[in-house]
Amino acid sequence: MKYHIVTYGCQMNLHESEKIAGILKTVGYTDPAPLEEADIIVFNTCCIRENAENHAFGNIGALKKLKREKRGLLIAVGGCMVQEAGKAEALRKKFPFIDIFFGTHNLAELGSLIEKKRAQKKYVLSLLEERKETEDGVVPVRTSYPNAWVNITYGCNNFCSYCIVPYVRGRERSRLPEDILREVEALAKEGYKEITLLGQNVDSYKSGDWDFPRLLDAVARIEGDFRVRFMTSHPKDFSEALVAVMKAHKKICKHLHLPVQSGNNRILSLMNRRYTREKYLEDLALLRREIPDCEVTTDLIVAFPTETEEEFEDTISLVEEADFSSAFTFIFSPRTGTRAAAMEGRISDEVAKDRITRLVACVNEKTRQKSAKYVGKTVVILCEDFDEKKQLYMGRDEYGRMGYFPSDRDRIGEFVSITITEANGISLYGRAE
Ligand code: SAH
Ligand code: SF4
Ligand code: F3S
Repeated sequence: MKYHIVTYGCQMNLHESEKIAGILKTVGYTDPAPLEEADIIVFNTCCIRENAENHAFGNIGALKKLKREKRGLLIAVGGCMVQEAGKAEALRKKFPFIDIFFGTHNLAELGSLIEKKRAQKKYVLSLLEERKETEDGVVPVRTSYPNAWVNITYGCNNFCSYCIVPYVRGRERSRLPEDILREVEALAKEGYKEITLLGQNVDSYKSGDWDFPRLLDAVARIEGDFRVRFMTSHPKDFSEALVAVMKAHKKICKHLHLPVQSGNNRILSLMNRRYTREKYLEDLALLRREIPDCEVTTDLIVAFPTETEEEFEDTISLVEEADFSSAFTFIFSPRTGTRAAAMEGRISDEVAKDRITRLVACVNEKTRQKSAKYVGKTVVILCEDFDEKKQLYMGRDEYGRMGYFPSDRDRIGEFVSITITEANGISLYGRAE
């Protein structure tokens, strides 16, 4: 039997979909297939912003006809949106054809939920409030070669006032270092060329005497021809120890994704981020003193409740000062149950759109300037894929830039030196040496 998984949201969800594929295999769904040919369709949802939810609602709704026409087709919906208070019920009412609902804490149970559904007519719903153990027993079907995702922490305790993640992913828990190291060793032996350590907040990794710098150091000491990335880091946990480990190992990419969210201290405090603009810039200065060519990317939110024009401009000026190589930019989206959703002073859609447009223009200009400097230089990229549209191979350099190049043989999984002939946004074009 065949399966199709639709994934929304962050890298955590991408990796969880690999675990879902692993579970599906154990209950008879062995091959991935296009939507129309699948015997089971699984939606792995996200609820970080309203548009993520709208997307999922739209695409689940569109399956009504297929479900009616194809006997035996199962539809399962899981992930963060299902875990959100009241959402499973809302989905069930709106789409009575969904067969299985599962939350974020019981992914490992999916196989038995499918078996239960096969034996009964009624839908199956399983949501847990919290769980302590992790999905370590699940063998993922990895789809992102030459990269492999490795979870180090689950959940989040930070409660940034705008964010729903702590509510749908539960309290933070760290995997045992020996389990993580064993997994990375096996992946390196299997030939994976990039290991990405994953957590909502990797820096708060804690297991006995192990903290994140120690874990990162141990991962980078594992033998093999691979590089190491990690995400996401929280500025409040930035440490000299982390910089020292990054500096000590060639294997660790010189790229830090450090979401700042806003350049204004009053807004940062309302967001409950627990650092200031000045502290953030000091940390970047330290990082660049130690690793001068390290690139930094970030996440930014505009139109947080009560944000004034001047406060927004602080975010614009920070993009300049912090010298980000790129940034993900978002309009504040109120999430039910979070503190910010209950705050007064909502910013109008019109103002929010104006701010995001200006911010995107500023970020793009910065990215363009930085990329232009690469023309004529040689960069080493890890070839990840073949871009069908462009008819070019592509990959990323250790700084996180995308590089495209032509080749008449398959280069996926190879480290390739390319000489850059053209830059366009964050993408570089060149020829392989
Ligand atoms: N754990 C990571 C990722 C969180 S989600 C971290 O702490 O950075 C990724 C990004 O989505 C966040 O960094 C933030 O910029 C954005 N985001 C989260 N909640 C949001 C909301 N309610 N509205 C708009 N953007 C949001
Ligand atoms: Fe959300 Fe903040 Fe946790 Fe990131 S650190 S997941 S933004 S609460
Ligand atoms: Fe979305 Fe859940 Fe990730 S809300 S961003 S999929 S942790």
